[in-house]
Amino acid sequence: MALSDKKPPQHIAIIMDGNGRWAKKRGLPRTAGHAAGAESFRRIANYCRTLGVKYLTVYAFSTENWKRSEEEVSGIMRLLGKYLKEALADMEKNKVCFRFFGDLSRLSPELQKLCAAAVDESKDYDVQVNFCLNYGGRDEIVRAGRAFAADVADGKYKPEDLTEELLAKYLYSADVPDPELIIRPSGEMRTSNFLLWQSAYSEYVFLNVLWPDFGPADLDEAIEEYHRRNRRFGGT
Ligand code: IPE
Ligand code: IPE
Ligand code: MG
Repeated sequence: MALSDKKPPQHIAIIMDGNGRWAKKRGLPRTAGHAAGAESFRRIANYCRTLGVKYLTVYAFSTENWKRSEEEVSGIMRLLGKYLKEALADMEKNKVCFRFFGDLSRLSPELQKLCAAAVDESKDYDVQVNFCLNYGGRDEIVRAGRAFAADVADGKYKPEDLTEELLAKYLYSADVPDPELIIRPSGEMRTSNFLLWQSAYSEYVFLNVLWPDFGPADLDEAIEEYHRRNRRFGGT
């Protein structure tokens, strides 16, 4: 069956990895890899809209990525600001609804304002892009635990009220179904702290292409591989 005959997953998540190696191969600074990675993201977000994917969650900057050099981190933040300004100017064309997963309070006030404006101005579009920025799966679960504990202290819940469904409501992904498919390009085969809770039964596809080179054909390949998988959810 051709790809177009099958329904794509409703939620695809991508670990956008390999920008640095892409730049190194070309003798360019790492920031040039991140700039190329931003273009790749634009291309894939557009393609997901064409395919009818409802949610696209992308890992852009992790809670651990602050360990990188000041130069690289500020370069990434500058590119993010540039990307968001362009996205804001082009809302009509892109037609995606922006959401951010992560602790934005560590970003500059200017970036935080751009994120808030992107969410506000795109809320009526229906392909939802969850942009993971200063995001860590463990951090997300710790925050959920704290928020639940605060509600217990306020008398809103008793400890025994906590269920998987209730805990999920405290996550950044509260109203988003779990991703059926998680793709990691770049050849690495690990989660690097991405969507730890939500990925319990996701299908992982690892591809040997660097993120800036990742195109629609790679997404097709990952979706085809996903359709070949036999999802059992613990059953038979
Ligand atoms: C992913 O590419 C982008 C971020 C983590 C911000 P990398 O910068 O990790 O690229 P490699 O893994 O070094 O090639
Ligand atoms: C994961 O990639 C984070 C993002 C792609 C944003 P990393 O490059 O940070 O992961 P590790 O260090 O190889 O595990
Ligand atoms: Mg990497």
